[in-house]
Amino acid sequence: MLVKVCMGSSCHLKGSYAIVEKLQELKQSGFELDIFGSLCFGRCAEGVCVEIDGQLHTNVTPEKLEQLLGVKKCR
Ligand code: FES
Repeated sequence: MLVKVCMGSSCHLKGSYAIVEKLQELKQSGFELDIFGSLCFGRCAEGVCVEIDGQLHTNVTPEKLEQLLGVKKCR
C-alpha cells in the first residue's frame, strides 16, 4: 500500500508523528507499506490526514490507521 502522511504543521500538532511511528512499526512487522510524507492536503481542521492508495482519510489516529489498513490482531 502507498501511504502518504501529512507533514503540515496542523497535522503535526495533532499527532502525525505517532502515525509515522505506527506505520514504521507495521512495516517492520512485515506489512507491505510504502511510506511518504506529504505537503498539506488542505483539510487541516480534520487532521491528522493520511492518504492510502489515493484515498484521503481524516481524523486519523494510530488505532483508526490499523482499521484502515485492515490490520488483524492476534490475542
Ligand atoms: S496540515 Fe495536514 S491537512 Fe493541512
